[in-house]
Amino acid sequence: RLETALRPKFLSEYIGQDKAKEKLEIFIEAARRRDESLDHALLSGPPGLGKTTLANIIANEMHVNMRVTSGPAIERPGDLASILTNLDENDVLFIDEIHRIPRTVEEILYPAMEDFALDIIVGKGPSARSLRLDLNHFTLIGATTRSGQLASPLRDRFGVLLNLELYDADSLKTILLRSAEILNIPLSTSGAMEIAKRSRGTPRIANRLLKRIRDFAEVKRNGLIDEDVAKEGLRLLDVDAYGLDDLDRKILRTMILDYEGRPVGIDTIAATIGEERITIEDVYEPYLLQINFIQRTPRGRMATKRAYDHLGIPYRKDES
Ligand code: ADE
Repeated sequence: RLETALRPKFLSEYIGQDKAKEKLEIFIEAARRRDESLDHALLSGPPGLGKTTLANIIANEMHVNMRVTSGPAIERPGDLASILTNLDENDVLFIDEIHRIPRTVEEILYPAMEDFALDIIVGKGPSARSLRLDLNHFTLIGATTRSGQLASPLRDRFGVLLNLELYDADSLKTILLRSAEILNIPLSTSGAMEIAKRSRGTPRIANRLLKRIRDFAEVKRNGLIDEDVAKEGLRLLDVDAYGLDDLDRKILRTMILDYEGRPVGIDTIAATIGEERITIEDVYEPYLLQINFIQRTPRGRMATKRAYDHLGIPYRKDES
């Protein structure tokens, strides 16, 4: 599949996230020299930044297999027990959305992470006994949109904490040129930069826009994506100059028009537009902060002059 073809397999192919990469290189090399499993790692950051990709790279670089699951998919302790007992020595277990793992499952995860042991109850009533089963050593890689959403006893059991940040336009441009090469799409540097600037700091969005603009370029133009074709394609896709979508604009308009530019709490914004607070905090706010359209103040979030200008609303400084 195309999606897997685009995913880098090794750290050296992984673009951006230099801080996370630098740490990982060292920790992976050290674990390999000692012939140990890598310590459990928690990857946090907004969706679409390549957390699954990074977990895959870690497994590849460690020369082990990776088993993939997610917090909501593990419903009962038995589900996790059967995964854990089927891992080979030093394998990676990737749990996406690990903050959504049920409490009862979390409890059997603790001894598994700390002692590579599974505590199981055999029998019922007075004859019930607790058995401790040894597991192979493994590396748990958890992914979450925010490490703060994780119960602290769980967070404390990760030895490696990596925070992924939104990508700058330059890194996204490099990712797009790499994707275009793999998919055989003629893409100019300025075309790549135009798409990069409107991808909300997110490789998943950049790659999706690339594929749709290729469709446009092939059907309506001669196939080459240069700056002009990128701009026309992005207009067709209703992607504005900053890559904002309807909900971004709704959030900004609410802050500016309904609350007259005064500081607003996140719950107030969520209630006004009828969206989950978590979605706004994890998906929308990070990007609006990155492009300086909103700022956090002690009294709440405020739209900046840049946001007013972008929406074409006259800026009046709050005098309250
Ligand atoms: N595709 C998605 N994320 C990537 C990254 N960081 N580097 C290269 N290709 C990617």
